[in-house]
Amino acid sequence: MSLKQKISGLIGVVTLVFLLAGCGDQPEATEAADKEEEKVVGIIGPMEVEIDILHSHMEVEETTKKGNLTFYEGNLEGQPIVLVKSGIGKVNAASAAQMLISDFEADVLINSGVAGGIHPDLGLGDIVISTKTVHHDMDETAKDFKPGQIPYMDTRYFEANQKLIQLAKKGTKDLPEYVDVFKGPIATGDQFIASEEKANWIYETFDAYVVEMEGAAVGQVAYLNEIPYVVIRSASDDAGEEAAGIQENFVEEAAKNSSHVIEEMLKGM
Ligand code: ADE
Repeated sequence: MSLKQKISGLIGVVTLVFLLAGCGDQPEATEAADKEEEKVVGIIGPMEVEIDILHSHMEVEETTKKGNLTFYEGNLEGQPIVLVKSGIGKVNAASAAQMLISDFEADVLINSGVAGGIHPDLGLGDIVISTKTVHHDMDETAKDFKPGQIPYMDTRYFEANQKLIQLAKKGTKDLPEYVDVFKGPIATGDQFIASEEKANWIYETFDAYVVEMEGAAVGQVAYLNEIPYVVIRSASDDAGEEAAGIQENFVEEAAKNSSHVIEEMLKGM
């Protein structure tokens, strides 16, 4: 066998080994790429009534208790999700949000639930998709910071993600006819607002459509972790003097509306 024949034989063997190795690797590489693209959506609802519907519609694969929180991992509308009832208020929401990111690898956060409507155009059951969120009870105005500004943080409002806002907007189809849909700022504080005067102050100061008790905490955690988020709320009351009674009668209907938007949104992800 000539040297040329030996070299060409060797090249043939090397090429074959290379091709076989390549063929074997290809499906794994594709699977890895698919996995990388599959986003895990962390969904936070403050109260039982705000997660009930999503929980009953999802396919739960694993239930994990961490401290006092229970996380449901699984699928809803073909989308991998982790659902948690955070409890009411900003610390509860922030803790749940950070656990979703750190322990359950959530890539995206959605906060769903009910709220007090403070914009004059808003009626009971109407949906508000957050464009941004702000803490209405953050107050260092005595040191010349604007209301809601966390001192030395480079933003006063936590911007929601545009793509999630668009998906949410698309998800508002098939809501009951009486429901109107708005996009706008959402104001958050550790207070159940039941005062027309306070509600007006929040509306005028922050241009907010609704007031609730978790959204900006989720927004702030998303901001700190540099991940996208959006808040979807349905008005369960008007944040006026009768808010508690009105909410009692309307909370289930409102929770149904926000859950509907979340489910529709997941279909488009
Ligand atoms: N969630 C629902 N209604 C609310 C209100 N009036 N104030 C704060 N959070 C709320």
